[in-house]
Amino acid sequence: MSLPTWELIRAAGLTSYFLLFVSVSSGLLFSIKAAKPKTNQLLQVAHQSAGWFSLLFGLFHGLLLYIDTYKPYSLVEIFIPFTTKDEPLLNGLGTISLFIMVLLFISGDLMKKVGAKVWKKIHRLALPMVILISTHGIMLGTDSSNGWAIVLYASSLAIILSLLIVKLLLIKAKTKKVISA
Ligand code: HEM
Repeated sequence: MSLPTWELIRAAGLTSYFLLFVSVSSGLLFSIKAAKPKTNQLLQVAHQSAGWFSLLFGLFHGLLLYIDTYKPYSLVEIFIPFTTKDEPLLNGLGTISLFIMVLLFISGDLMKKVGAKVWKKIHRLALPMVILISTHGIMLGTDSSNGWAIVLYASSLAIILSLLIVKLLLIKAKTKKVISA
């Protein structure tokens, strides 16, 4: 009996995407600090653990392509961006996102060593990564035309964009207050 690798690849990619959405949106909510301290603590835990599991599922999704029974990828194709025979650009966006995720985690663990300024700069890569991975999933995925997948992509992007706008408005209001004080 052979493993249903293609189904597993798709399920792992979508799980990683959903967990990334949970991590980014709880991170944005946490940084807005609108919630009570206890809820904020929970948001931070959700942000970190969902991010971790998103990375693990993303890695699993990529590695499964190596043992895929229908169209296997080489390790070079999986880990060196833009080297795949099929859709090099869209596959490359997946590989780059995976690298960004690893970078985010390393920088988080080495926060004390790299310093808050460098950590902040690296952390800002998370938002462009959401755009890269959404393009990758939507344009490459077999499931993208299904109603539930459209709802998943559209609602996650709309929620992240709304939270980002709220955060930017709060920062603007805060700087205005400091200038006028
Ligand atoms: C964190 C990293 C990654 C995430 C979150 C991710 C996410 C996704 C998502 C959501 C899909 C759509 C699945 C579907 O509609 O069924 C997808 C498809 C795909 N991804 Fe990734 N991906 C990542 C990394 C990679 C890497 C490194 C590669 C290899 C170069 C890759 C290759 C593919 C391929 C070939 C498909 C098409 C599968 C299909 O036909 O549905 N992905 N990915």
